[in-house]
Amino acid sequence: ALKDNTVIVVLGASGDLAKKKTYPALFGLYRMGFLPRDVKIVGYARTKMDDAEYHKRITSYLKVADDDAEGKANIEQFKAFSSYVSGGYEDAPSFENLNKVLEDIESKYQSKERNRLFYLALPPSVFIPVAQHLRQQVYSKDGKNRIIVEKPFGKDLESCRVLLGSLKQHWTEDETFRIDHYLGKEMVKNILVLRFANIAMGAAWDKNSISNVQVTFKEPFGTEGRGGYFDEFGIIRDILQNHLLQVLSIIAMERPVSFSAEDIRDEKVKVLRAIPPIERSDTLLGQYVAANGKPGYLDDDTVPPNSVCPTYAATTLWIHNPRWEGVPFILKAGKALNEAKVEVRIQFKDVTQGIFKDISRNELVIRIQPSEAVYLKLNTKTPGLNTRAIPTEMDLTYKRRFTDAKIPEAYEALILDALRGDHSNFVRDDELDVAWKIFTPILHWIDGKNGPAPRPVPYPYGSRGPKELESFIGKYGYKRTVPDYTWPVMNV
Ligand code: BG6
Repeated sequence: ALKDNTVIVVLGASGDLAKKKTYPALFGLYRMGFLPRDVKIVGYARTKMDDAEYHKRITSYLKVADDDAEGKANIEQFKAFSSYVSGGYEDAPSFENLNKVLEDIESKYQSKERNRLFYLALPPSVFIPVAQHLRQQVYSKDGKNRIIVEKPFGKDLESCRVLLGSLKQHWTEDETFRIDHYLGKEMVKNILVLRFANIAMGAAWDKNSISNVQVTFKEPFGTEGRGGYFDEFGIIRDILQNHLLQVLSIIAMERPVSFSAEDIRDEKVKVLRAIPPIERSDTLLGQYVAANGKPGYLDDDTVPPNSVCPTYAATTLWIHNPRWEGVPFILKAGKALNEAKVEVRIQFKDVTQGIFKDISRNELVIRIQPSEAVYLKLNTKTPGLNTRAIPTEMDLTYKRRFTDAKIPEAYEALILDALRGDHSNFVRDDELDVAWKIFTPILHWIDGKNGPAPRPVPYPYGSRGPKELESFIGKYGYKRTVPDYTWPVMNV
């Protein structure tokens, strides 16, 4: 682990990701006492600004309550060990200068050890030159170097291979940490424990008991302001191919030999390799249109007119192995929907008919956010003198059960893992390769690469998604709970 003599360099320090995620996570870790002793943080970007302006930016998303004097003091301390250097992303002299700044900081260390953690919060266009220059001009010869990179890792199988190949020329797999921030979420990490630490779960975890699985991502806002970026990628590359497929692989994989990073990732790759490329007929695409005073996707000035980029997608994946043969895994994600919610919903099969009629199916729901919970829909005898079953739930809502626990932010957990050198929650190169194999054919179809691009169906801003969704999931055997059941969500 990087304990002492460590500098964290944030490249792209003036950008959105750094401001909203990276710095708040670094600050969170600092407050909890998890940053290396005497750590220094150096921001790097093209924008010219003085330390005062830089401090204003990096603290704009740090939250401390008005009456939290200690928190406010922590912000001042955080600023005191954070400084800024501006420079280009593609020229050696800029990086030589950065290296000098780091050497200057390090000259005050007691020992010879010098560790550097580079966090690339950068647009993909400068990814490769920056990684190369860091290796050539800014690499520490007396200590550990680590590099954290973020998606997009290419746009399809081929471009991903080119990108990974170029990164590999400069950085070893051991030094590289590829973030998929969903792997840092508490509930996603909990899946391994739920599955493998509970014999009752493990026993029911296959095609004999399970009818279908849905992994759902819903966001209540559109692409406002980010349309230019989004249009080039679309919802499948933004959410399904990475975040939701990662969740699926943990739900579906076999038991790893140990909790070590390679054992876990071996199992994830293995299950993904059993999934053939997605079929067009297993795909539903949507794009939101203006409604309720909110603009449609195409109303965004940064989006090309007539764009057929999907902002909603549902796709069904099939896993050809003995555990899962015939069980549909439906991944669905959309922007500008009626609510914010990410969950896994495992629907079990019908009980044997005969003594019951119209009885609801069991469902195990892993609510990833907001309001983390795991609940099992369970049929129970209605209390009273007659024997009728009603759907109820066994409910583990975190806020109720773990009243004092603070759930860490995904980025806090992941940056700490990178400091510790633990790769378990980062994406290995071969995982990306299989993930792109599954999605590349439909992506090329959607991009209009081999014929006319499909037209996404419209859905109103703020709705539940395309109206076609109901029949889409119905076709894979999903059955709604009868009578209308709603899980009593605890809003705290
Ligand atoms: C990012 C996507 O990877 O994840 C965004 O690019 C999306 O479009 C975000 O909004 C969602 O992350 P979270 O942690 O808010 O669920």
